Amino acid sequence: VSEVHVAAGSLRGAVLNPAADGRLQVWPCAEVRWVGGRISEVVACDGPADRVLLPGFVDLHCHWPQSHVRGQFGGQLLPWLRGAIWPAEAAFADPSVASARAEAFLAELLRAGTCAGLLFGPPFLDASLTLLERAPRGFFDGPALMECNAPDALLAPVASTLDQLATVAPEVRRRLVVSPRFAPNVTAAGLDACGQVATRWRLAVQSHLSENLDEVAWVRALFPEALDYTDVYDRSGLLGPRTVMAHGIHLSERELARLAATGTWVAHCPTSNEALQSGRMPLERLRAAGVSWVLATDIGAGPLLSQLDAMRAFVEIHRGFADATATEALARATVLPGQFLAQLDPACAGLGTLTPDAPAHVVALPLPPGHAGPRTSDDAEALLRAMLHSPRANLETLPCEVVCWGRTVAGA
Ligand code: GUN
Ligand code: ZN
Repeated sequence: VSEVHVAAGSLRGAVLNPAADGRLQVWPCAEVRWVGGRISEVVACDGPADRVLLPGFVDLHCHWPQSHVRGQFGGQLLPWLRGAIWPAEAAFADPSVASARAEAFLAELLRAGTCAGLLFGPPFLDASLTLLERAPRGFFDGPALMECNAPDALLAPVASTLDQLATVAPEVRRRLVVSPRFAPNVTAAGLDACGQVATRWRLAVQSHLSENLDEVAWVRALFPEALDYTDVYDRSGLLGPRTVMAHGIHLSERELARLAATGTWVAHCPTSNEALQSGRMPLERLRAAGVSWVLATDIGAGPLLSQLDAMRAFVEIHRGFADATATEALARATVLPGQFLAQLDPACAGLGTLTPDAPAHVVALPLPPGHAGPRTSDDAEALLRAMLHSPRANLETLPCEVVCWGRTVAGA
């Protein structure tokens, strides 16, 4: 898919270009141009703009086999997994289900403006390979590794699934993510095997950490030898700058310090935390500890595929507790997760920005009524907030056009 580039193209609008240092570059009106799938230049033009151009979103925590069962909540994490999610994922053992769902999911995700990301698959390697065949470059995926404490239909020895990676073609293997589902589903030996394989093939790692208090208590009972939940992964060599741990809500100071020291990333999923009543992630404590973090949807606990909904929830949930601007939310949904993926694939350099040589991923959104193209960073913050306050259900279909690797994948 990614190899089929439109030779050249452009879009015009008010441009917001987030930088990793938290600054936002703004143009009241500019033309974003691209050639061969990469941005060539951004040129100021005479307004008025009627659209806002943002970089394509990047989502580092999203379960694609849960997309069709979003919004089914019957309590907190563990009963929801057992009652709704695990039975839904078991169906992906059937290759025709996996390929149909992979196709439908990717179309919906691109429609929502997400052009790259780290995906969590069902517990079947073939299903993840099916998705990767169809996904543009910049998407990474791993089967949820599960070998205990779940229904038999989902279980397989983790070491033997990992052995199969040796038979996968190297250009596909580097897009695979070592994905122990969470500590309760993998033995200590299985986690050790995950750490060894991730090191051997230099693969990304993803899992879940400290999302829910019942989950934390379960992990303590299953791994009495570990210092805490974070240490369960740490002892197996699973922390580091190529690791994304989802949630990180109920962590001690020791655990936060370990995540910061190892350069491990936390995927903060505010819509999921809201839906499963997991608690508010203590943003101010992660900041004080110096932990790297991004915003993610956690589909299907998060009910919408749009990173705009995660940005909206972020601004609302932390109000009164921590400084949480829409401008920061944009950077955490684009350029920062883009930097994570750039470690895995040099073609992802510049991902999540609208700067020359970056992948040509552009989302065009309607300029909210009463707003002109922004001139200052305060204007841009007000504009972003107005966009996030569209009726929630509309956020997924708000983009009027989405461009991925220079190709229009949604809209006119
Ligand atoms: N912990 C283990 N598996 C899952 C999952 O699928 N979703 C969420 N939110 N948490 C998990
Ligand atoms: Zn998750």
